[in-house]
Amino acid sequence: MPQPKWYTSGRSSSLTSLLKTPVKTFRSLSPISYEKRARRRVCWRVTIIVSAVLVFFGIIAAITYVSLVGTLIRQLNPPKVNSGLQHIVNDWKEPDSKGAYQFTWRNDFSRDIIPKSCHSHNDYWRSVPLYEALSYGCVGIEADIWLTNDQKDLLVSHSWKSTKPTRTLKSLYLDPLVNIFENRNVSTASASDKEVGVFDADPNVSVVLLIDFKSDGHKTWPLLQSQLEPLRRAGYLTYFNGSEVVPGALTVVGTGNTPFELVIANNTDRFVFFDADLNDVSNAKYNSSNSYYASTAMKEAIGHIWFNRLKGSQVDTLKEQIRAAQNKGIKSRYWNTPSWPVSLRDKVWFTLTDNGVGMLNVDDLYSATRWNWNWCVVAGLPLC
Ligand SMILES: *[C@@H]1O[C@H](CO)[C@@H](O)[C@H](O)[C@H]1NC(C)=O
Ligand SMILES: *[C@@H]1O[C@H](CO)[C@@H](O)[C@H](O)[C@H]1NC(C)=O
Ligand SMILES: *[C@@H]1O[C@H](CO)[C@@H](O)[C@H](O)[C@H]1NC(C)=O
Ligand SMILES: *[C@@H]1O[C@H](CO)[C@@H](O)[C@H](O)[C@H]1NC(C)=O
Ligand SMILES: *[C@@H]1O[C@H](CO)[C@@H](O)[C@H](O)[C@H]1NC(C)=O
Repeated sequence: MPQPKWYTSGRSSSLTSLLKTPVKTFRSLSPISYEKRARRRVCWRVTIIVSAVLVFFGIIAAITYVSLVGTLIRQLNPPKVNSGLQHIVNDWKEPDSKGAYQFTWRNDFSRDIIPKSCHSHNDYWRSVPLYEALSYGCVGIEADIWLTNDQKDLLVSHSWKSTKPTRTLKSLYLDPLVNIFENRNVSTASASDKEVGVFDADPNVSVVLLIDFKSDGHKTWPLLQSQLEPLRRAGYLTYFNGSEVVPGALTVVGTGNTPFELVIANNTDRFVFFDADLNDVSNAKYNSSNSYYASTAMKEAIGHIWFNRLKGSQVDTLKEQIRAAQNKGIKSRYWNTPSWPVSLRDKVWFTLTDNGVGMLNVDDLYSATRWNWNWCVVAGLPLC
């Protein structure tokens, strides 16, 4: 039987037969227009089927991806620690003319918080200074101080321009710390007593307050000494008594314009320690009787990190410096470590902690203290 002309035409798609499009030859249509219509219909069907399949698999893939990432984040993201400190962080208010933020003391102040050798870099810049760092278990905090023109107070700020009369060393740091120590009965605790510091989990841990002198060191020093005097008298401060460093609940370290000669001037009751230069830590003048930290910008120690990789020689320099400080009983600290990309940041964190860095200087407290760094980047996705 002779096939209709359109059926045998070379342009006829194999899909036509595949999808068994009903061929209705009785229609009073010319064979050409019928073929066109049929093919268009087939095309539509194919498009719809393919799209449906793609959408279906797309949705499955999206659901899988979202639930995987969600599970991962839930798994890695530890539950919020419900401590007294967390409540303070949630409710905190800026100090006003009456002074520091006041709160009702709770006995679960530091419950479930594990203290860590982490330094809250530029702590006063956080939305909640001091308490937020402590709530993450970071034992190191930092305040930049400026002497007022009348030399009567010490203001805390990164630049003189952004200082505020209510944001003082006392209102942001010293008074809140005294309040914590009083409520935790630090001064009444004897050496053998268990309650001697901020953290329940390890009461022996001292909080380290790094004070960065921004104004003239010699003019700032006497006022800092007098503001620390009540804490010294209460027995809260770590001090050097002429032969030994006697640990206290708070260790004060001076950096920036802090004059080394004033730190060492008092050799029987020294309660402000120095932040030595880590690149010069072997210098004989630095030892644990006068220096608590030895710090440097990472770039000054090892130069630029090219192609997001630490070279072997750079790692060796870090190891050497960390060991040199350790041998003197001084804690090494690197600031301005890379924060991006996250994989490089974590690599640097791992390198430093694996080699026993004294204190890890961090900006992102949450990622540094709550995450498992091995899981910070998963499938190219930065999770922390
Ligand atoms: C501090 O001492 C008071 C009075 O002895 C006591 O009631 C309180 O529980 C103590 N606080 C801590 C944190 O031990
Ligand atoms: C705290 O220090 C004291 C005295 O050095 C020591 O006896 C005690 O074991 C320490 N406690 C902890 C939890 O390390
Ligand atoms: C310094 O402190 C240590 C430890 O507390 C003590 O044994 C020593 O006698 C003290 N030295 C002086 C001069 O007070
Ligand atoms: C050392 O500090 C103590 C306590 O603040 C003070 O009484 C003493 O005069 C100081 N000594 C020197 C040499 O500065
Ligand atoms: C520590 O260094 C000072 C000089 O800065 C020196 O006078 C003192 O003897 C040193 N102490 C020890 C234990 O080496």
